[in-house]
Amino acid sequence: MSNENRRIITPNNGDWAIEARGLVKKFGDNRAVDGVDLNVRAGTIYGVLGPNGAGKTTTIRMLATLLKADAGSTRIFGHDVVKEAHIVRQLIGVTGQYASVDESLSATENLIIFSRLLGLGRAEARKKADELLEEFGLTEAAKRPLKNFSGGMRRRLDLAASLISQPPLIFLDEPTTGLDPRTRNQMWDTIRRLVKTGSTVLLTTQYLQEADELADRVAVIDHGRVVAEGTVDELKASIGTSSLQLSIQNPKDIQIARQTVEQVLKVQSTVSSEAGKIIAPMADADRVTDLLIALRGAGVQLAELSVQKPTLDEVFLSITGHGVEEDASKIFNESNKAGEVRA
Ligand SMILES: Nc1ncnc2c1ncn2[C@@H]1O[C@H](COP(=O)(O)OP(=O)(O)O)[C@@H](O)[C@H]1O
Ligand SMILES: [Mg+2]
Repeated sequence: MSNENRRIITPNNGDWAIEARGLVKKFGDNRAVDGVDLNVRAGTIYGVLGPNGAGKTTTIRMLATLLKADAGSTRIFGHDVVKEAHIVRQLIGVTGQYASVDESLSATENLIIFSRLLGLGRAEARKKADELLEEFGLTEAAKRPLKNFSGGMRRRLDLAASLISQPPLIFLDEPTTGLDPRTRNQMWDTIRRLVKTGSTVLLTTQYLQEADELADRVAVIDHGRVVAEGTVDELKASIGTSSLQLSIQNPKDIQIARQTVEQVLKVQSTVSSEAGKIIAPMADADRVTDLLIALRGAGVQLAELSVQKPTLDEVFLSITGHGVEEDASKIFNESNKAGEVRA
């Protein structure tokens, strides 16, 4: 992507792209966002992970100057979103769950209009539109009016429009919700490329796997509050443990095997319904060496052994007491609602 239209205000890498303190937004009695702090380093991908209704979109809209917070403050590259909104707007791009584009126009026309609005000349706008359509695999569809576009194509066009002048900070609100796996992977590649070429990305997602794949750090948000924050590995480590799974060759050794596991790891083990399989939490995967030596000493022969990190699903469940719902119809309804309330 070319740098010719880069803003005059460019951030330094290593600076904070986002510093938000105590953000609150109430809708009537509903505290949709209830005291959120976020710190996002420039040059990173930050994931805000949470189920429907957690307050993700409302948070993004406050960070992006689209909605006034009831309390708290936000700085974007050091600029206050209220007092210096005009500067902040030059530093950010926002893509919503819905394309902010004109239905009756073609993809090319939409991108040219956005480019002209951003001050590009006619030839430059045309060139930019063509480049972006190529990058997002929309060249063939470019002449068709948008009303004939699939959801995935719209999403890509929406992102393309926000990248006409690749802003230093890009907000992506559920960029892949409802996309098929192939388009989702393309979107992930594009997001990685944005960060490689100097942008910072804050994305919201309901997909644990997406946060795992993309995000340098993650905030887990539930009922308007950040309930956990850190790298994906830190979050996984925070629930304490890996999971040791051990199968033994001879079921009559099960008791001695369990005793050995419990002595060495100093934990309670369980025996799974599969005969001869022992499961135990393991705070330090390195202890597996001691365990193997002890098992050999006790004459226990192993059939299989694995040490697994907890999944982000387990992390979410352990932190919030409930899972992240990925019920497609719910996502669809919620997306529509979000579309209606957008500014
Ligand atoms: N414009 C609005 N008016 C009233 N309630 C809203 C509005 N926008 C969001 N909400 C409510 O605020 C809560 C958080 O919504 P939202 O930020 O859209 O969550 P998410 O993006 O995580 O699904 C929900 O309970 C939602 O119904
Ligand atoms: Mg939302």
